[in-house]
Amino acid sequence: MPNKVKTICCIGAGYVGGPTMAVIAYKCKHLKVIVVDLDKEKIASWNDDDLTKLPVYEPGLKDLIKKCRGINLFFSTNIKSSVEEADMIFISVNTPTKEKGLGAGEASDLKYVESSARSIAEYAVGHTIVVEKSTIPVKTAEVIQTILISSQKNKVKKSNKSFTVLSSPEFLAEGTAIDDLLNPSRVLIGGESEAEINALVDIYKNWVDEEKIIKTNIWSSELSKLTANAFLAQRVSSINSISALCEKTGADISEVAQAVGTDYRIGKNFLKSGPGFGGSCFKKDILNLIYICKFYGLDEVANYWNQVLKINQWQQNRLTNIIVKKLFGTLTSKKIGILGFAFKANTNDTRESPAINICTNLLLEGAHLSIYDPKVNEKKILENLKDSIHAEIDSFEINSNVTIASSYEQIANGSDAILILTEWEDFKEIEWSNISELMRNPAWIFDCRDIVDLDKFRETELNIWKLGHGSNIKNLK
Ligand code: NAD
Ligand code: UGA
Repeated sequence: MPNKVKTICCIGAGYVGGPTMAVIAYKCKHLKVIVVDLDKEKIASWNDDDLTKLPVYEPGLKDLIKKCRGINLFFSTNIKSSVEEADMIFISVNTPTKEKGLGAGEASDLKYVESSARSIAEYAVGHTIVVEKSTIPVKTAEVIQTILISSQKNKVKKSNKSFTVLSSPEFLAEGTAIDDLLNPSRVLIGGESEAEINALVDIYKNWVDEEKIIKTNIWSSELSKLTANAFLAQRVSSINSISALCEKTGADISEVAQAVGTDYRIGKNFLKSGPGFGGSCFKKDILNLIYICKFYGLDEVANYWNQVLKINQWQQNRLTNIIVKKLFGTLTSKKIGILGFAFKANTNDTRESPAINICTNLLLEGAHLSIYDPKVNEKKILENLKDSIHAEIDSFEINSNVTIASSYEQIANGSDAILILTEWEDFKEIEWSNISELMRNPAWIFDCRDIVDLDKFRETELNIWKLGHGSNIKNLK
């Protein structure tokens, strides 16, 4: 029987660990919550007095940090003392795709999960509940359990350590993380031991209705997370595949999405066509699912999910080709403005952002890019583009072909085209008549997020192309 949980430690202070623990600390004032990370710079940013320097941008996060930090929420690099003190430990470390060795390019790299488990095995005191928050392949609990048990066998029998592993995957989406955590559609807890499951239920019960807390066996919980992400990504690829057909046939993707989505069996969410899904998880989680299917000899299932990734890549390349064609077949010496670099609005995260691939394609075509994103800093944009283009051309001079702008007026100046890649709210308010005067004619706007109001184009010289719109919206004047 576990003791009453008093202290929670979270290993990993990233996009999941930081916001999740801030919400737990906010809702459970009786708990002490410690978030630990190996990355000293990241922890220093979480502890910075200037809350604009937090490593994660999420609406609502700053307020929670202000309310809890230093009271019952702490950020630390001291893994030993944090683990020692905790009765419950969340593992929220990154689980990227393996880059080398067996399963490279598909399997999940569990090195950070493994090292977290080893730290827990070494430093934990008494009975500890270990919660998998990271997204991991089904059966990972077995790996964690093996590491924890072997430590017990080795040297620490006398210290009376014991462990229970639970799976409780996180379903938050970036940009809405705080709201998702405060009002989750469900909390999933997988495990074998009722007492430990209830210890975690007791924490969530402080703000989540008990009927929203789903209890399953541990493998169902692990597999449900991969399946949920695969289904979400599949919807994006499905609507994106139809966006291309709309462009050929005169249909309008937003009308099709509405008509299809009002069938309650299908549902209206997650049917927005765009430049393809990005983010750190969809691609890696589907690759992981593909690997697991192949491992169990389910090649047809693996091929089925692979198509979701293929359509995603195809959509990004398709957009680049449309731009090149509209700009007379060549981008050499043309200036293209990019509005938005984050993989979606309301986050500063650029991992797997479609902007990376699309900008790389445009640079390879000879364009000069001027990029503006309200939340992504210059360093991150340039690093992302360097990594991506240097995989194609080692000697590519990024600094002479890319400038980072501080406003959308700046990117418009002298440009031949503007591409909208992230659906930031600000971009919906742009006065296109002002922008039109700054651009070089014939100028094009490529709205890859379907956010601009066509009425604002009526009095301009601009040509406009909207993703998924079959009607030929060229120049409305
Ligand atoms: P992240 O890269 O932002 O953060 C992970 C952190 O773990 C890093 O700061 C890293 O330094 C730290 N870390 C790694 N090994 C460590 C160790 N041994 N000890 C201490 N710290 C260590 O990753 P993230 O986006 O927060 O994702 C974490 C996990 O949650 C992944 O498995 C991901 O698939 C899953 N997930 C992510 C999201 C999301 O929106 N980002 C949502 C749900 C689930
Ligand atoms: C996604 C899931 O939504 C979360 O439930 C999950 O916890 C998380 O992955 C994870 O495991 O990391 P996230 O990647 O943060 O969250 O953001 P989403 O809102 O899912 O968007 C992912 C990508 O799909 C973005 O590039 C977004 O622009 C794109 N998208 C989403 C569309 O193109 N159309 C849509 O209708 C929805």
